[in-house]
Amino acid sequence: MSGDGAHGGRITSVLSETRTFPPAHDHHARVGSMDAYRAMYDRAERDPDGYWSEAATELWWARGWDKVVEWNPDAPSWDATWFVGGKTNAAVNCVDRHLAGWRRNKAAILFEGEPGDTRILTYAELHREVCKAANALTALGVTAGDFVAIYMPMIPEAVIAMLACARLGAPHTVVFGGFASEALADRIRDSKAKVVITADGGWRRGHAIALKDNVDHAVPGSTVQHVVVVKRTAQSVAWHTGRDHWWHDVVDSASAKHTAQAFDAEHPLFSLYTSGTTGKPKGILHTTAGYLVNAMQSSRLVFDLREEDIFWCTADIGWVTGHSYVTYGPLANGATVLLYEGAPNHPEPDRFWQMIERWRVTTFYTAPTAIRAFMRWGDELPAKHDLSSLRLLGSVGEPINPEAWMWYREKIGGNRCPIVDTWWQTETGSIVISPLPGATPTKPGSATLPLPGMIVDVVKRDGSRCADNEGGFLVIKRPWPSMLRTIWGDHERFEKAYFSEIPGTYFAGDGARRDSDGYIWVMGRVDDVINVAGHRLSTMEIESALVSHPSVAEAAVVGRPDDLKGQAIVAFVTPKRGITADDALAKVLRQHVVEQIGALARPEELRFAEALPKTRSGKIMRRLLREVASGSKARGDTTTLEDQSVLETLAQSFAEE
Ligand code: WTA
Repeated sequence: MSGDGAHGGRITSVLSETRTFPPAHDHHARVGSMDAYRAMYDRAERDPDGYWSEAATELWWARGWDKVVEWNPDAPSWDATWFVGGKTNAAVNCVDRHLAGWRRNKAAILFEGEPGDTRILTYAELHREVCKAANALTALGVTAGDFVAIYMPMIPEAVIAMLACARLGAPHTVVFGGFASEALADRIRDSKAKVVITADGGWRRGHAIALKDNVDHAVPGSTVQHVVVVKRTAQSVAWHTGRDHWWHDVVDSASAKHTAQAFDAEHPLFSLYTSGTTGKPKGILHTTAGYLVNAMQSSRLVFDLREEDIFWCTADIGWVTGHSYVTYGPLANGATVLLYEGAPNHPEPDRFWQMIERWRVTTFYTAPTAIRAFMRWGDELPAKHDLSSLRLLGSVGEPINPEAWMWYREKIGGNRCPIVDTWWQTETGSIVISPLPGATPTKPGSATLPLPGMIVDVVKRDGSRCADNEGGFLVIKRPWPSMLRTIWGDHERFEKAYFSEIPGTYFAGDGARRDSDGYIWVMGRVDDVINVAGHRLSTMEIESALVSHPSVAEAAVVGRPDDLKGQAIVAFVTPKRGITADDALAKVLRQHVVEQIGALARPEELRFAEALPKTRSGKIMRRLLREVASGSKARGDTTTLEDQSVLETLAQSFAEE
């Protein structure tokens, strides 16, 4: 390692740092002042075992733990195991234990379908559905340890399916409904799923999207024995008798009585595939108790959850945000969540504001890309609606530019609601850096400070701490309960990707800087992962998809800054000899990527090149391509621009290893 790779730019003139917004003056807030936050943070740092053990007592346990954590700071990946000896069940924590008191008849899920249909499930009803689904899965041969793939639209059955799997100790692997059959097939193959739970389709912008059809293409030749299909759109579907079962046949007729078994604290709860630096997605494995402790606790702290809240996280359950802040975190707290099936601009671009008004949403958690789209659609849309029920706004998935932050605060939050900009990853399982709404003064564009118990730093390549405002690498220095345990089936890759870059730390793959108040400003990825509209994609994965086309000799994919999506995908393609590079081919290739991965990976721009720039050792010079792709486009937001150049330097130092 060069050791000085991160000397990058010092950022001194950041406009937004001159603006600080006070926290909510709220004497009900769980953490009501900076002093309270600091005391909590210091305590967690001094006595992590005591701190996490207190957090864990909020869960239901069939058997208490003997030891909070066992880990080895000298082991390549720390080998942390949490709540050793403890036994619990994630579904019992999210559902059953709320049945004993008044929450039994509290709404757990408020659902609105895109066509406008609605459904409300109380905790008692959710319990009944989860038990029935668990019995149905058992009848299909699912037992503890079997993987179940879930490929669903955002309907209540998606959450019920996750919880039914958790109840049985059958780890689920949710595949985002926007992924194509090839991508689904990869994930099924890698997890060796025994059952797929899907729907005939879902509603999106007025169309019935086909899901079952993709499953039919993905399943042959795999380990899948049964496919359970929810009827949602009533479109016609092919049927494989013996393999396929309607949800309403097998679940509705199943018994509502189900005795949950307790599983080891470290029993796998789910794997979730995410993009890394190679073409092959990584199955991030999370285990039961540690994950749930952090999901539950962070929901409570960051969103200051209250019994009367209507909590709306707009993320799809196909992403980690949908796991931790649609399903596990809020439900473990006995909260009411809103679930929406469709597009934010259907039938009109004010659908979200309409829904906030209709359901009296108190807490709204979405991605910067969505906020930037809302900005474009115009201020008059939110202004038409009564958004006074809102008391807290959240942002996640990508850096939020100060302009979008300010718009969110003014036009959606009425200058009244604090914004929590939450930094975390599929790997971290739960929020790591975020303001606490009653305590932390916020600065537009900064995720502010780590949650108590999270030891975060910004360091140089050699692991030494960066000076204030010096760009460096974001790392975590001590295990936390919801950290990933491995990459499914590839422990070596796990050690290499996260623990070998900067020894002794968990390497997040993000560039960041710490300002003189200790606030963290996350800039973006330093590896070959790109973030398009809050969706994490690997440039290599898109390259592989392109190269799999018979006309392509070579391909390189980079991200270029995009005002709306954060980053846009630009592909450089060298066609095979004799192939004519024209618009028709470009169109075919872009569509080929959609068929291989999904619409989310469609290159925004595809350029043909006779050859790709390479180093003498044959590596594609991505930095050069990134520069070519970005052009010298002037951007309105100076912070983002400065961050971009620092990031470029960091990425370069990372790639030069
Ligand atoms: C990015 C999503 C800046 C970051 C929860 C991270 C963010 C990647 C933020 C993880 C934020 C997420 N500010 N960047 N508040 N939140 N990111 O695994 O690059 O889909 O590494 O998890 O998103 O994406 P993932």
